[in-house]
Amino acid sequence: MARLLGVLVGLGIIGITAYGLFAWLWGVPSVADRPTLTDPKAIAEGKYLAAAGDCVSCHTVEDGGQRFAGGRPFDTPFGRLYSTNITPDATTGIGGMTSAEFYQLIAYGADSVWDPLYPAMPYTSFHNIDRDQSDRLHAYFMSLEPVAQPATPNALTFPFSIRPLMFGWNLLFASRAPFEARPDKDDAWNRGAFLVQGPGHCGECHTPRNLLGAMEGGEAALSGAVIGGMEAPDLRPQALAARGWTRADLATYFETGASPQGSAFGEMFLAVKNSLRLLSHDDRVAIASYLMDTTADAPTKGQKAVAAMGDAAHPNKEGQSLYLTHCGLCHGPQGQGMANTMPALKGNATLAQPDGRNLVQVIADGVKPEAMSQTAGYGPMPGYRDRLDTQQITDLANYLRADFAPGGAALPPLTADQVQQILQP
Ligand code: HEC
Ligand code: HEC
Ligand code: HEC
Repeated sequence: MARLLGVLVGLGIIGITAYGLFAWLWGVPSVADRPTLTDPKAIAEGKYLAAAGDCVSCHTVEDGGQRFAGGRPFDTPFGRLYSTNITPDATTGIGGMTSAEFYQLIAYGADSVWDPLYPAMPYTSFHNIDRDQSDRLHAYFMSLEPVAQPATPNALTFPFSIRPLMFGWNLLFASRAPFEARPDKDDAWNRGAFLVQGPGHCGECHTPRNLLGAMEGGEAALSGAVIGGMEAPDLRPQALAARGWTRADLATYFETGASPQGSAFGEMFLAVKNSLRLLSHDDRVAIASYLMDTTADAPTKGQKAVAAMGDAAHPNKEGQSLYLTHCGLCHGPQGQGMANTMPALKGNATLAQPDGRNLVQVIADGVKPEAMSQTAGYGPMPGYRDRLDTQQITDLANYLRADFAPGGAALPPLTADQVQQILQP
C-alpha cells in the first residue's frame, strides 16, 4: 500500500515537472503591450470584425440578455460551461484587460499557462486574426457601455474542471499561426479563406472533430459534422455544387438567410442573422468564392439534376400523398414554396444531404419562428413527431429526396432503421 502510494506520488511529481517544463518551453508567447486604440476608424474596424466573428451570439444570453455580458450556457460532453462578460466593466468584464492580454486570449486561448480558456471559445479559429486586427477588436469592446454582470460558475466534471489542464490540450491542438494568404489564389479567395477560417469560425461547426474534441484538418476540413442533433453540412466545393449551390446563391443566402436552395435555420440562422448579413457584399461574395473554389456561375451538376428530375423510376405514392396532405399547403403542391414566406422544397439543398439527418429532424420537430429583421423572416413550421410514425417519415423523406432534391436520382433511399436512429433523442 505504502509502496503504491510512493509510486503514485512519484508519478505525480514527474508529471507536474514535465508539465512545468513543457509550459516553460512552449508557454504563452509574450506579446508587447500597446495603448488601447481610441480613434473612430479603428473602433469601426473592430466593430466589423466583431460582426464577422459573431461574438454576440455566444457572449449574450438568448432572448433578452444584455449584449456581450456573457452567461450563455454551452453543453459539452464534459459538463456545462458559460461564456463570459466581454463588456469593459472593470470588475465583471474585461475593463482591466490590456490589448496584449486580449490578443493572447483571442489567438492563443490563454494569457497565462495557469489560466487558459476552454475551446468553447473559438480561439482554435481566431488565431488567424493578427495582432493589428485584434487591437481593433479590443478598441471596439473598450468603447462599449460597461455592463456589471458577474460570470456564472461553470459546472464541468472532474478532471475537466481543472483549467490548467486545458493548456496541454492547447499545446497539442490549438494552432497559434496567423492567417497566411496563398499566392496561387486570387484576392477574393484569400479574403474568403481568412473570413471562413478566422473570425467566421465556420469549421467549429462544419468540421468533424477527433476523439479529444479537436477539429480535423486536411481533406476533412469543412466536410460536415453533427452539432446539437443537426448536421452542419459538407461545405467543400464538390459537395456544395452537388447540392445545387452557385456562388451567387450562396452570397444571397448569407445576406438574407433565404435562397432557391432553401433557408437558414437553427444555428445557421443565428450565424446569418448576427454575422454574415452584416458583412459587406464583397465579403459575402468572397466567402462564397472560397467555398465554391471560385467556380464559374454556370449551371452546376446539381442544378442540371434538378432539371432532369420528375420521372422517378419507382414512384412513391405513400410519400407523395403524405406530402400533399401535410406539407403541400405551405411548401406548395410541386414544392415550389411561396416568395418570402415559405422556402421551396424543389431544389432544396437540405434534401440533398446524403445522411438525411436535417430533413428527418425538421419533419419531426419543425422549426421555430425565425425573424431576420422587423420585416423579413419565416414563421414557424410545425413538427410531425406525434402525427407521423417512423415508416411514414421514411416514405415522406424518400419521396422528397427522389423527386425534389438536387441530384435526387443518385441519393440512396433511407431505411426506417436509419430514420429511427436519427429520431432518437
Ligand atoms: C462559439 C462561441 C463563442 C464565440 C463565437 C466567441 N466567444 Fe469569446 N468566449 C466564449 C466562451 C464560452 C468563453 C469562456 C471560456 C472559458 O471560460 O474558458 C469565451 C471567453 C472569451 C474571452 C475571455 C474573457 C475573460 O474574461 O477571460 C474573451 C476576451 C472573448 N471570449 C472574446 C471574444 C471575442 C472578441 C469574440 C468575437 C471575435 C468572441 N469571444 C467570440 C465563447 C465564444
Ligand atoms: C405551416 C407551414 C408549414 C408546413 C405545414 C410545413 N412547413 Fe416546412 N417549413 C416551413 C417554414 C416557414 C420553413 C422555414 C423555416 C426557417 O427557415 O426558419 C420550413 C422549412 C422546412 C425545411 C427546411 C429547409 C429550408 O430550406 O428551410 C424542410 C426540409 C421542410 N420545411 C419540410 C417540410 C415537410 C416535409 C413538411 C410536411 C411534413 C413541412 N415542411 C410542413 C413551413 C411549413
Ligand atoms: C454554430 C454552428 C455553425 C456555424 C458557426 C456555422 N454554421 Fe453553417 N450551418 C450550421 C448548421 C447546423 C446548418 C444546417 C442548417 C441549415 O441548413 O440552415 C448549416 C448550414 C449551412 C449552409 C447551408 C448548406 C446547405 O446545403 O443547406 C451553408 C452554406 C453554411 N452553413 C455556411 C456556413 C459558413 C460560411 C459559416 C461561417 C461563416 C457557417 N456556416 C458557420 C451550423 C453552423
